[in-house]
Amino acid sequence: MTIKINAQKNLFHLQTDHTSYILTVMPNGELGQLYYGDRLPVKEHYANLAQREERGGMATWNDGLPDFQPEMLKQEYASLGKGDFRLPAFQLTQPNGSRTSEFAYQDYTLTAGKKRLAGLPATFDDTHDDAETLVCHLKDAITGVRLDLAYTVFPHQDVLVRSARFHNPTTTAVTLNAAASLQLDLPDADYDFLQFAGDWARERHLYRTHLRPGLQSIDSLRGASSHQENPFMILARPDTTDDQGSAFGLNLVYSGNFQDSVEVDQFATSRVLVGINPHEFGWQLAPGTDFQTPEAILSYTDRGLNQLSQQLGVFYQAHLVNPTFAHQDRPILINNWEATYFDFNEEKLMTIVQQAHDLGIEMFVLDDGWFGHRNDDTTSLGDWFVNQPKFPHGLTHFGDRVHALGMQLGLWFEPEMISQDSDLYRQHPDWVVGDPAATLTPSRHQFVLDMTRPEVIDYLFGKISSVISAMHLDYVKWDMNRNLTEAFSRRLGAEQQLEFTHRYILGVYQLYDRLTHAHPDVLFESCASGGGRFDLGMMYYAPQAWTSDDTDAVERLKIQCGTSYGYPQAMMGAHVSAVPNDQNGRVTSLATRGAVAFFGDLGYELDITQMTPAELEQIKEQVAFYQEHRHLFQFGTFYRVDSPFAGDGNVTSWGVVAADQGSAIFGRYQLLNHPNAPYQRQFFKGLDPQRTYTVNQDPEPFSGAELMHAGLFVPTVKPQQGYSSDFSAQLFIVRAVQ
Ligand code: GLA
Repeated sequence: MTIKINAQKNLFHLQTDHTSYILTVMPNGELGQLYYGDRLPVKEHYANLAQREERGGMATWNDGLPDFQPEMLKQEYASLGKGDFRLPAFQLTQPNGSRTSEFAYQDYTLTAGKKRLAGLPATFDDTHDDAETLVCHLKDAITGVRLDLAYTVFPHQDVLVRSARFHNPTTTAVTLNAAASLQLDLPDADYDFLQFAGDWARERHLYRTHLRPGLQSIDSLRGASSHQENPFMILARPDTTDDQGSAFGLNLVYSGNFQDSVEVDQFATSRVLVGINPHEFGWQLAPGTDFQTPEAILSYTDRGLNQLSQQLGVFYQAHLVNPTFAHQDRPILINNWEATYFDFNEEKLMTIVQQAHDLGIEMFVLDDGWFGHRNDDTTSLGDWFVNQPKFPHGLTHFGDRVHALGMQLGLWFEPEMISQDSDLYRQHPDWVVGDPAATLTPSRHQFVLDMTRPEVIDYLFGKISSVISAMHLDYVKWDMNRNLTEAFSRRLGAEQQLEFTHRYILGVYQLYDRLTHAHPDVLFESCASGGGRFDLGMMYYAPQAWTSDDTDAVERLKIQCGTSYGYPQAMMGAHVSAVPNDQNGRVTSLATRGAVAFFGDLGYELDITQMTPAELEQIKEQVAFYQEHRHLFQFGTFYRVDSPFAGDGNVTSWGVVAADQGSAIFGRYQLLNHPNAPYQRQFFKGLDPQRTYTVNQDPEPFSGAELMHAGLFVPTVKPQQGYSSDFSAQLFIVRAVQ
């Protein structure tokens, strides 16, 4: 049993292998938070954790509880308007306009395991990994609305999954104007806030700032989790590093508008809220209906940020990613986007396919431009049928040719979008998102389909599913290249328009659900102009994601390192592309490009028909090398060693270690090669200190302890004629010899 309940005292102690989370029913009937952090022994009561003192001039709950001041309390799911002036976890508006609620604890249920949620991506416990779920049932004394707060403990990954569910059993509708998935009230504010921010082509760079009084938050109002801020955040003690110290990781299993906020109050306590963004949100809770929030993930460690990333990664593979793919090696692909853009036909592609096959590449992915009459980005989205001039014998014929070589085949779609120049738009102009009275805002010349409409989902399912079947696809790249503007559905009434952005993403999930069930062996990769929807909601349906449109190896160091804090490397699509790089013109060697892309799901995205025999030979070697070590690269335990975000960022290094510690590969990348530079050493992590290893071709035996604590001397990179000695990469292949 991981959840210990003292029913008499209404105390709930949720234990994982290394953490404790304790909550209780407070004297006013609401749920109060007592503790979250390192594991504590179970006790009869926790008077110390509930300690507070009366302070003058504050609202008290009522005359019966004269010293009960909500503003002083750590709460589980704070309401609005009862004297706690911090941000509330939810806001419920009654028909008379009042926003005051009095939710009181009623009882609880405790069940083994963890069920999925209907209609939302969610964690699960199909493998019976000792998960246990506690649901605390509350009832609003004013409206009669019910609230269930769910807590699932996944003991071995030190993860707690939380969500809230409102149910209206009454005969009157109420409106939910905010409904967080998680609230965490920490007793102090001595934390750094780590966020992963950026934009297109520079996603998820790490920013670390100390908490300050007041509200600090990250969010999206784009209808997608966004390039700009990722829903993953960390609160770490100031002295916490990758290797030591305590930290909380928080994430949301959701792909739409979100908000993660931390409010530091006048007593230097910190309230954390994670959930759907309350802006642009309002949900009609009609009589007899429910509202289920997305799930939030909470994890804690006192062993540093590498440990936090690792336990989250293991957790997602076990309890979030589609089990068919969770531990399955991902194919090495070649994608034609940066090779041809829209300028291709069947014969041109077949030359690439044939050559890729000769190099050992395993899958060909046909990107944008195969449908309608799409020869540039102004047209045909929504017309998911063959572009006849490019494929005169049809798509099935092309698919058969690829498969006949023994290659797998993938195809690009952008299901949620519509071009004005499309048969679909001509037939269904009303399927477009937006108020018909407004001038709609184009982005990349395209508009968004109203994913709240069942007929839109049916149309897309029918078209996409039949192409998947006809071409026997092995993989689908689901792209999404613009954000929502003029959020409005012609199908919804005025009172429901604030439901639109959430309903939109529920429609996306429904389509994902139908397609992945109809085609259970097809691997989906999510994409949104690169990493604009790189989140756990997507990960539930699409086990891998296109990390960024920026394929430059140097830019990728920060992007992949930042991403690694919250997401495992098997989720990260990483491609070798041509030089000068299309995004920034930088020239890096093929070796460096490979050495960066190896630490993800390797692909190639360049015109191999234009490469020299020597380059092709090098790609062949890279492919064979990656095949040999693929499982380690994709599923090994990932360690950050030297951070591109630290100091001048000149050196990045990271590595993957096999579960049995019998092998490891570390990558070291240096941006500028300084003459007569200070000495450098490469340190290793995660090895067995007692075992003996060799590194690369050197026969010298090293103990794991020596590699980890003394490291290896790194000689200066020697300039080679014709090549810059900048942007160099080195791989250290570590093998146990006993
Ligand atoms: C987006 C994707 C790219 C590519 C193009 C095609 O930008 O991120 O990988 O698929 O769309 O239009």
